Amino acid sequence: MAETNPFYITTPIYYVNDVPHIGHAYTTIAADVLARYWRLRGREVFFLTGLDEHGQKVQQAAAKAGIDPQAHCDKLAPQFQTLWQRLNISNDAFIRTTDLEHKAIVQRYLQELYDKHLIYQDSYTGWYCTFDERFWTEKDVESGLCPDCKRPVEQLSEHNYFFKMGQYQDRLIEHIKAHPDFIRPESRRNEVLGFLQTQKLGDLSISRPKSRLSWGIELPFDNNYVTYVWFDALVNYMSALEYLPREKPTGNQFWPTNVHLVGKDILTTHAVYWSTMLMALNLPLPETIFAHGWWTVDGEKMSKSRGNVVDPNKMVESYGVDAFRYFLLREVPFGQDGDFSQSAVVTSLNSDLANGIGNLLSRTLTMIERFADGNIPANGPPALPELEEKIARAATQLPATLERGFHALTFRDNLQAIGELVSLCDEYIDKAAPWKLAKNPEDAPKLKTVLNHSARALRLLAVLLHPFMPQTMEQLARQLGYHVDFSKALPASAYEWDSPVSDLPITKSAPLFPRIEITASDTVRIDLKEHVKIEKNASSKKGATPVSDTSATPQPVPAAATTTPATTSATPAAPAAVPAPVAPPQITIDDFMKIQLKTAKVISAERVPKSEKLLKLQVSLGTEQRQIVAGIGKKYDPDALVGKTIVIVANLKPAKLMGIESQGMVLAAGDADVRGLLTIQEEVDPGTKVK
Ligand code: MSP
Repeated sequence: MAETNPFYITTPIYYVNDVPHIGHAYTTIAADVLARYWRLRGREVFFLTGLDEHGQKVQQAAAKAGIDPQAHCDKLAPQFQTLWQRLNISNDAFIRTTDLEHKAIVQRYLQELYDKHLIYQDSYTGWYCTFDERFWTEKDVESGLCPDCKRPVEQLSEHNYFFKMGQYQDRLIEHIKAHPDFIRPESRRNEVLGFLQTQKLGDLSISRPKSRLSWGIELPFDNNYVTYVWFDALVNYMSALEYLPREKPTGNQFWPTNVHLVGKDILTTHAVYWSTMLMALNLPLPETIFAHGWWTVDGEKMSKSRGNVVDPNKMVESYGVDAFRYFLLREVPFGQDGDFSQSAVVTSLNSDLANGIGNLLSRTLTMIERFADGNIPANGPPALPELEEKIARAATQLPATLERGFHALTFRDNLQAIGELVSLCDEYIDKAAPWKLAKNPEDAPKLKTVLNHSARALRLLAVLLHPFMPQTMEQLARQLGYHVDFSKALPASAYEWDSPVSDLPITKSAPLFPRIEITASDTVRIDLKEHVKIEKNASSKKGATPVSDTSATPQPVPAAATTTPATTSATPAAPAAVPAPVAPPQITIDDFMKIQLKTAKVISAERVPKSEKLLKLQVSLGTEQRQIVAGIGKKYDPDALVGKTIVIVANLKPAKLMGIESQGMVLAAGDADVRGLLTIQEEVDPGTKVK
């Protein structure tokens, strides 16, 4: 199973036109998990990330800031570097395309292609948008307008240098066909193949006249031009190997790259431009280019103008670095799009981490303290043979399953498989009931088995989860008295179920993942200053500890309660119980216009079983019927509502409250208690806009 070959992994190099966001963090965290995993498995790893500092976007951003482009890059670069430190990113090198060495290497490649007659000069005629400073093709332009800014475009002719990309079309098709892992996931591979097999691949303009764009690397054979930013940027994957310091000067042994991780939007530039550039340079092609999906935020595209850009720094502050890392890779299968929301992060943190691995550690250590004087006991006779065998089987198979997953980049499946072992251990503790065994001296040997199994599973879990959550898994190992150096390759025995656990005393300390409890009266909102916030009210707690350590008599050590969706999705649960946030920020009319308020006629209403507060309403919006769960049951009898015309937020994302879907929210006055429902006296058609 052991792999010894080197492993070279890259992220895209990010444009320094703005500060880093969740999209940048996503790729970089995924790359980090892979790098960490393979390092622990003994492979020599080179993990590269960095910045794309040339080109129009950066030049424009600098101009907007009123500073010179280099000064702009120097100002923004530390924002990325600091974020990577916060996110525990273990990159081996950080490239900036304004590095002198990189520039020289790009020029060397350009010269080589020029000398081989693979670059030629030609004139190009296209539709040019002066505002966006870019060309569009005939099919992009609609009614003579720029598809981006909608300003008129003009036909312009320009002399440029072209790379003979088109001549590699057949070779590229053959390469993709012969190497099923070259472009992944498979759906993306099919997209690229489909495009290459149905359209003629043209040549690529690799220059920009300095009169139009000056911020770039000058062509070595014509100083009136700079090179196209993508030619410059893609070369980073090679140039970094040549000049950036590495611990071991192992030359070019890392080429070809094992995995280029990219977002789906930049797959073509990698799969087509970069591959054909490498063919022209007679260099081997990367093993895999993996395109991941995009994150939306609360169902919407993330953008500055929408004010919903998620700042990873704020995520670390709110949830801790590892919960954020975990969420990104557990929430959606790698390769597919995902939706980021505040409540999804909280649910993932509480149910998988606080109630899962965190609680397993906490209850295990509590029991070892109480029943074994703080020392992990040796294994005894079976206590629950069937479950013990099940755990042993799962724990023995898990490392190989995960290794396959790390080859396939199925992070989510890996985390799910790990979660299954955690659940199995919880079930085992619940059923073996060590607190009962502790009451009977004859059961003492069995009690040891239960404690030993739980501790052994945790030791293995620390190793398996370390790449995902390095900081907390180191804490876990320390609390367990397991001394291991995660900065080096681990011995094969670290992955074995039968490995003895440390006999050092345990040191129980703070919970690994404090729970975040959101009650219906908390407001979850997107702060307009671009970060997500939970406004806590006094009754919300962070970090409830599941077990009382001071209790003298053996008590059941519970698995933490699971969070019901109703408690994590705040606003729709009880609209009237949401207090106004302290000093709410001002919003613009555009922000307000995003909220769609409509009249709705109540057709029927009933109480939600076991809830004092919640009513289930069926309302008509004229053209459609909706079900809304509203926290107005203390104030109103269901029957009194039928026939009333109320006001609802019609474009609120559906949420489940006590397992019942709510497709909107009713408006009511009041704070913790509802005092009055917003109703319309006049005859107004249901579904009428309210503003
Ligand atoms: N500079 C180029 C890459 C050159 S690589 C030789 C670039 N930079 S970028 O900063 O604009 O984008 C970097 C990455 O962020 C891309 O992989 C892109 O897919 C990713 N993302 C941007 N927004 C995203 C989301 N909303 N969600 C996930 N990833 C997203 O392109």
